[in-house]
Parts: sequence; C-alpha cells; structure tokens
Amino acid sequence: MSEKRELLTSTALGMCCSRRQLLRGALLAALAPSLGALLSACGSGAAVPTPTVAAPAATPTPPAATPTPAAAASPTVAATPTGQAAAGEPVRIGVLLPYSGVYTALGENITRGLELYLEEIGYQAGGRTIEVYKEDDAANPEVGLTKARQLVERDRVHLLAGIVHSGVATALRDFVDSQQIPLVIANAGAAPLTRDPAQRSPYIFRVSFANGQYEWPLGPYAHDSLGYARVAVTAPDYSAGHEKANAFKAAFQKAGGQIVDEVYPPLDTADFGPFLQRLQQAQVDAVWAFFAGADAVRFVQQYNDFGLKDQFPLIGAGDLVDEAYLGQQGDAALDVVTSLHYTPQYDSPENQAFVQRFREKHGQVPNQFAYQGYLCARVIAEALNAVEGQVEDREAFLSALKQVQFTGPTGEFRFHPETQNVVLTVFFRKVERLADGSLGNVVLDKVEGIDDLSF
Ligand code: BEZ
Repeated sequence: MSEKRELLTSTALGMCCSRRQLLRGALLAALAPSLGALLSACGSGAAVPTPTVAAPAATPTPPAATPTPAAAASPTVAATPTGQAAAGEPVRIGVLLPYSGVYTALGENITRGLELYLEEIGYQAGGRTIEVYKEDDAANPEVGLTKARQLVERDRVHLLAGIVHSGVATALRDFVDSQQIPLVIANAGAAPLTRDPAQRSPYIFRVSFANGQYEWPLGPYAHDSLGYARVAVTAPDYSAGHEKANAFKAAFQKAGGQIVDEVYPPLDTADFGPFLQRLQQAQVDAVWAFFAGADAVRFVQQYNDFGLKDQFPLIGAGDLVDEAYLGQQGDAALDVVTSLHYTPQYDSPENQAFVQRFREKHGQVPNQFAYQGYLCARVIAEALNAVEGQVEDREAFLSALKQVQFTGPTGEFRFHPETQNVVLTVFFRKVERLADGSLGNVVLDKVEGIDDLSF
C-alpha cells in the first residue's frame, strides 16, 4: 500500500488514524486484550471507552504474523471458499464508506459505531484478530466498485462492510455475488437488493434498512394520528430519495391521504430556494421530506428561513433531524416529527448502555449511523464466534450470519430469513428540547417487527 493512500484515508477521516496505526492497534489489542480498550487504535488521545460489554467467549489467539500493510498486499483473490485459516491469520474486513462529499458525516459516524464495538471486544472474535481496511468511496458508484476490487484483490479482505449510497451498493452487487464475498451493508437502502428475488444474493446482508422500510409506517401515522389529509413530498433526485418517497406516498394514500405535489432537488443541493418556492404554493397540511448529511442541515435551516415552517409542519424520515446536526439546525428542527429505526432517547437498558459508552468516547450521543455501524461490527463478530473464526468456510459463515440474533439497543436483532435484511422496530419521534437544554428526538410511539417485505 502506498503512503499516499494511507495518508488520504487518515486525512479524509479527519478524526481517527492511519491504516498502519489501526492495524497496530488491533495487534496490540490481540496481544493484551485487557489493554485493548486502553490502547486506542487511533492513539489520538481521545477519551478512552470503558469496556463494559464483555468480550466474546472465544480465547484470543495472538496472531503469528505481524499485521503490517505489507503482509496484506499480495494481489490475489481473497480466500479459498472452504479453506482452513492459516494459523493465527487475522480476519480482514474491508470497510467502504464515504469519507468525502455530501455523506461524509454518515461515513464517519458508521465508523465510530463500528470501532466502538470492535474496541469492546478487543478486535477479537472466534479466536482471531480482526483487521479493518478502510477506504473512501466518496458516495460514488464507480469509485466504490474500484475500491471494492482493491480491497478484495490487493488487500485480500475476507468480507466487505459499510456502504452508504444506494448507487454504490447496487454497483457492488454483481461483484460480491460473483466473487463470493460476503457484504454486510451498514446503510445503503437500495430496496431491490433484498426485496427483489432476482437481485438478492446469498452474500448480501443488511443491518440498516431497505429504503421505504421505516418511511411507510409514517403514512398511516401522519393521517390517522397527526390528522393530515394533504401532504407534499420532497427528497433528493436519485434512487434512494424516490424509493423512500414512494413508500411514504403509497402508505399515506392507502390510509386515505392525498399527495398534492412532489419535488425532487438534486443530491447535494446548496440552495433549496427554488424548490421551497414551489412547496410554498401547495396548499397542504404538512410537508414530508427525506434528506441526509449536509443536505439535511441545509434543507431544515432553509425551510425555516423561508418561513415555511410556520405554514406547513415538517415531517419525514429521521435522517432529516439526525442528532449529528441538531445542534447546527437549532430551533429550525424543533417539533419536526419523523419515523426511524433508532433514537438515542429510547429508554431500554441496552440502548442507555450504548449511549453512555459512545458519549464517553465521543462526547456526544450516537446517531442512527453510529448505531448501524455498531450493529454491523456486532453481527460480523457474532457470526465469527459461531464458526470459531472459520470465515474461509463461506457456507458456514453465511449460514452463521443468517442466524445471528441478540438483544441490541432497540430490542431483538434478527435478519428476515428470506431477504437477509434486518427486521426493524420503527419509532415515531418528535424533536423537543431536553432537560439539559439540548435538542433530541423523543419517542412518541413505536411499531415492532417491520420487515422489508411489509410494503
Ligand atoms: C441511500 O442512498 O440508500 C441512503 C443514503 C443516505 C441515507 C439513507 C439512505
């Protein structure tokens, strides 16, 4: 691996560490599991997390080979389908996320959640050390596919994880399927990848959501509980935006509501003015919106600045008022009602423990993306434990992934057996001022057992 690439990765992250530092952290954690959490892989002097969750039962085995980048550099195919692990060889996970562009905040928070869990288990599962190889896909399908190839062919990763943008996930579908590389999606909601039998792959799992899965329940809720009859929708003009809007629209109409207008600005819009002007002309009871990352910050602020918030209440997908930018959005976000599969305000022992550990490390509450990153790492580790580290036995590893089940921050985690997509609890949340003066997404209600075939 070139110095240039290593530098790019660390700079793009802007918060963590170079790959070499990360690998060194994993090695140290393997050699001294009790010190694993203390020797932060980042070595950045950030607050040290308290490892309150016990490491998996497996006995950590110190790796025989030093996990330097050079050791992972030969450009061959990842592993034989059913081969035995070389004694002490680490399990290599290729993490592909946007660390630049409109979805940078999403990539960074998924990474934080993922690393929090790996630190808790001392970068060990199934008796093997875990190494993480991070790459920036810039939320660009072409870049994503190139980086995925590099991770598999050059770095010989055993599996891929991450992916935020639906277009990147779709671009990777045939590659992972033909190369037989397990892919655990931590965000990208491209619905056909799990919903469409012709698109599904035994190698693709999703711990986050299918686009539409947490949006559709807001349809009947907006009509029956919030009392809205006429709604306009707006979302970024690419597959994820349309999939999410379509699911809300269909469910709202089925409940008896009317969709009055639809507005689709391009992804990464700096000035929503022309689109807000059009929304202003619609005589509606509310506006439903999905925007994420930098788009969400700008949309919520500009919706308020334009005076629309006083005219039409804003509702939508939880991404719109993510905890990562509630501080920036300020009062413009107050009272926005959304549906999502996570809120740090959910009062369960598992969630409060997760929130506390994240807060200790990062000084802020986790958002949905940190939660998804955490689930992604945990699912992989649970499957590795189940196969005693034999990730090379792909059939056994895929079967173990399918069967992963545990009680997580929002309740029981499990995959739908047919789609290999997570079954969700969906929360209806409202942005309120909390006792400490900050803003938070407070739970109004929830529905359980929502899978990706339910809409
Ligand atoms: C997507 O492209 O699927 C996506 C991106 C950001 C947030 C949610 C979904």
